[in-house]
Amino acid sequence: MGGKVTVIGAGFYGSTTAQRLAEFDIFDSVVLTDVVEGKPEGVALDINQSRPIEGFETVVIGVTTSSNGGGYAAIAGSDVVIITAGVARKPGMSRMDLLGVNATIVRGVSEQIARHAPNAVVIVVSNPLDEMTALVSRVTGFPHERVLGQAGMLDTARFSHFVAEKLDVPISMVGTLTLGSHGDTMVPVPSQCSVTVDGSAQPLSKLLDSAAIDELVTRTRNGGAEIIALLKTGSAYYAPSAAAARMAQAVMQDSGAVMPVCAWVDGQYGISGVYLGVQAELGAQGVRRVVETPLTDAELAALRQAAEAVRGKQADVASL
Ligand code: LAC
Repeated sequence: MGGKVTVIGAGFYGSTTAQRLAEFDIFDSVVLTDVVEGKPEGVALDINQSRPIEGFETVVIGVTTSSNGGGYAAIAGSDVVIITAGVARKPGMSRMDLLGVNATIVRGVSEQIARHAPNAVVIVVSNPLDEMTALVSRVTGFPHERVLGQAGMLDTARFSHFVAEKLDVPISMVGTLTLGSHGDTMVPVPSQCSVTVDGSAQPLSKLLDSAAIDELVTRTRNGGAEIIALLKTGSAYYAPSAAAARMAQAVMQDSGAVMPVCAWVDGQYGISGVYLGVQAELGAQGVRRVVETPLTDAELAALRQAAEAVRGKQADVASL
């Protein structure tokens, strides 16, 4: 035990993330903040009351914050800060439709993090993800390796779930990968996907024809929208929070785990100067290194296209 993690935003994504982090039982404290008076305190009290049942010592501290910085002193000393603040999509909206409103919120939050938790690793989950990650990097002024975004873990998990369901195999037998942006230019990487059958890893292309793979790729790309359409209000949070919490755990434990995340790319794949979904090794300082994965020519071309698509948008966020 040791260490402190802060989750900004006590909506479904933030509160579920706080719960998962507390249940890991690796932190002294989880700070949960929100601008809605009393909400983070109420969620914290509820999670804390589950401690004797679930058997964890981590304490959750709920703090109402104000846009002028009130309450933010509570995040001082955080090793990791996860930003979930912002609004979620409504049915029919794209993640990009959230750009203006969430940029204002995320900018304000970033200023407070820079002031009160200047040594933290920041994990961004607010949408549109790639742009918000770039904005946090810019506003905090933190080294690029200390600002990263959650998307690849989620998109990859969705892909794996669809493959397991389609082939009717245990989820633990499936390994998939998605790179690129958390949006239209998401790049599922079928060449790196495999399924273990009778103890040996088989390429996905041996088990499914290309039309079937394409179908799963498309469903993965639209994975968030599919859930929003079903829920009607709000967006997904169980799988997203699982992904964000595991990233924070890898940082806190300095584990060196390799995960698909939104990270600053500086020369890898022939791409430079942009936040993009890639595989990265995570440790106490955030991204230890971007891990280049062998890609087919088509996958590499799609990744480069994704980089150019998000590059323009990330430049735009500076003015928001
Ligand atoms: C999703 C949101 C969290 O993909 O971006 O569900």
